[in-house]
Amino acid sequence: MNANVLKRAESFARSFHQGDASGHDWSHIERVVRMTRTIAAAEKADPFICELAALLHDVADPKLNASKEAGIANVRGFLDSLPIPADAADHVIAIIATMSYSEGPGRPMATTEGRVVRDADRLDAIGAIGIARTFAYAGWKGHPLHDAALAPRATWTQESYGRERSTAIYHFYEKLLKLKSLLHTETARKIADERHRFMESYLEQFHKEWSGNG
Ligand code: ADP
Ligand code: NI
Repeated sequence: MNANVLKRAESFARSFHQGDASGHDWSHIERVVRMTRTIAAAEKADPFICELAALLHDVADPKLNASKEAGIANVRGFLDSLPIPADAADHVIAIIATMSYSEGPGRPMATTEGRVVRDADRLDAIGAIGIARTFAYAGWKGHPLHDAALAPRATWTQESYGRERSTAIYHFYEKLLKLKSLLHTETARKIADERHRFMESYLEQFHKEWSGNG
C-alpha cells in the first residue's frame, strides 16, 4: 500500500514541478528523495513519512503558490485523498509547513523525520548542485551575477532574506555558507563538509577572476 501511495505522490509532485525554472524542477525533488533515503536509513527515521514529505515538500512553496496557506491547503487536499492514517498526513503537513529556510533558519524541527527531510533539502542547496541552482535562480529572477558593492552580511535577518536587491554571489553569503552549521543530523553534516569546502574554493576563484587577478 505504501509503495502505491508513494507512486501517487510522485505523479502529483512531478506534474506540479514540471517545467519549473526557479530551482524547483522535478530533478531537485528526485535528488532530495534519494538523499532523504540515505539520511533516513542512517538516522533510523520512518522511511515512508520521510519519502512522502520529501516528494511533496516544495508543492507548498509560497514562491510557487498564491500564498503559503494556499500551498499547504493544496498538499492537505492531496494527502486527504490518500489511503493513509490521519496522523501520517498530519506529520507530513507539519514537516512541510516548518522546514523552509524563510520560516527561520534556526527553527527546530519537532521530529527525526522532519530533521532528515530538511537536511536533505538543505544539502541540495550547497556544493556543485547548489552553485548551479543559485545561478539558475538568479537568472530566473533577473539578478546580476555579482555586485562588489553589495557587502556580505554577517547575520541573517528575516527582513533581509529574499529581498529584491540581491545577486547570485550575495546569496552564498546570506544563506549557502550558513547551511552547514544549521544541519540537524550527523549524517548530513558529514556529507556537507566536502560540499561546503567546494563552495569556498569556488568563491575564492570567482573573486580572483572578477578582480582581474587570476
Ligand atoms: P529549497 O528548495 O531548498 O527550499 P529555495 O526555495 O529557498 O530552496 O530556493 C530554490 C533554489 O534557489 C535554492 O538552490 C536556493 O539556494 C536558490 N535561491 C533562493 N533564493 C535565491 C537568491 N536570492 N539568489 C540566488 N539563488 C537563490
Ligand atoms: Ni526543496
